[in-house]
Amino acid sequence: MPKKPAHRFALTRRDHPSRHGKELRPGPVKKDLDRIEIASRDEITALQTERLAWSLAHAYENVPRYRTKFDAAGVHPSDFRTLDDLARFPFTTKEDLRETYPFGLLAVPREQVIRLHASSGTTGKPTVVGYTAKDIKTWSDVVARSIRAAGGRKGDMVHVAYGYGLFTGGLGAHYGAERLGCTVVPMSGGQTDKQILLLQDFRPDVLMCTPSYALVIADECDRLGVDPRTLSLKCGIFGAEPWTEAMRQEIEDRFAMDAVDIYGLSEVMGPGVASECVETKDGLTVWEDHFYPETIDPVNGKVVPDGERGELVFTSLTKEAMPVIRYRTRDLTTLLPGTARTMRRLARIHGRSDDMLIIRGVNVFPSQIEELILKVGLYSPHYVLEVHRDGRLDRLEVVVEPHDGSISVPAAAQGAELLMHDIKTFVGVSAEVRVEKPGTVARSMGKARRVIDLR
Ligand code: DLL
Repeated sequence: MPKKPAHRFALTRRDHPSRHGKELRPGPVKKDLDRIEIASRDEITALQTERLAWSLAHAYENVPRYRTKFDAAGVHPSDFRTLDDLARFPFTTKEDLRETYPFGLLAVPREQVIRLHASSGTTGKPTVVGYTAKDIKTWSDVVARSIRAAGGRKGDMVHVAYGYGLFTGGLGAHYGAERLGCTVVPMSGGQTDKQILLLQDFRPDVLMCTPSYALVIADECDRLGVDPRTLSLKCGIFGAEPWTEAMRQEIEDRFAMDAVDIYGLSEVMGPGVASECVETKDGLTVWEDHFYPETIDPVNGKVVPDGERGELVFTSLTKEAMPVIRYRTRDLTTLLPGTARTMRRLARIHGRSDDMLIIRGVNVFPSQIEELILKVGLYSPHYVLEVHRDGRLDRLEVVVEPHDGSISVPAAAQGAELLMHDIKTFVGVSAEVRVEKPGTVARSMGKARRVIDLR
């Protein structure tokens, strides 16, 4: 098996005319890129300044919550003149979405919203986001740009194995691929054997799914005696959860394809807020003409300079239905200067400033599970979430203990069933429940340790 070169993108077809019958394509040439992708920093700054002024005014005039918060902080959209002025405006958090659930942050009449998505809230109710027709077009454009940056082209076939539904992954990838002019296979997640059948028979060029699921597909291929390198895939676009350079290397080697990172979050848009360019594979280019990034110190909220690690904060520049002003993502990263594009990059996301877990691509807050444990009525508030990795897949085990020792074994088992059902229904992830004897779940003297991450 020939060793994969570091950047297949850079090779011409003549260098390597085929690899298991795959044609290698050159990367995007300048004329294929959106004009803004090759704009100067001055042009980008001018566009951002103009768009930020619009977005701040749009939020203030149409969303009572923003008006109240701006007024309380003593700032008005007319105070914004240069990009540095943005730091005077208040942050938006998941709390703002929770307290205005479901539609309180919409800046347009609900009738103009053509799509809703939702992600995990910190407690029972999900976080709801809305899009106008223009927002969906913008989103499709940035995802199309992301697929092109990964090496995908008009006419390619894109196999989408991100989940379809309220999660933004499936439909976000789908509309972007269509927008680029690709043939989309809307497979969604799961049914791994069927995924492999379609990958073999349809011969797609691009795979979009979570990085951990890509490895599940590779393992299942091995089990079925299918060499993933003989599949037709040229590139994979992976995100929705943290992953590492070691995983990139493994995926690239096992599939003989390029693997790039894609980032996004529902509150800001969905996938395609930032994406990696295949020619450099050095972090995710932020599509800065639509999303303005800042990094802050998560403790004191002060802006940290580019190049220093901080919590990522986004302000939307063009979103109509649900503008977000200085939204605290809780993701920790570093803003870096542009390389393959003039727009800035994000280093790989290296953690979070809150306790959100991502289990098999699903965002899980310990507070959501706690609420469900207490709802059952049998268990004490002492619990632990154990996260294991079995092979490729994450496994969540919820360890609980009854209030009192007199509860019968069948009742405890029934409570565990109910809890598993509720977690699947309300949080969207399968969990196992382990019922321990009263008093055995470790108590903490200080801050309770709710999560034991054994991955
Ligand atoms: O995960 C959107 C998405 C779908 C991105 C498909 C990429 C691909 P949410 O469900 O709202 O949206 O979760 C957002 O997931 O704040 C990060 O913590 C995490 N996340 C997303 N992409 C990456 C990534 C989608 N590339 C939350 N690396 C974010 C690390 C990521 N974490």
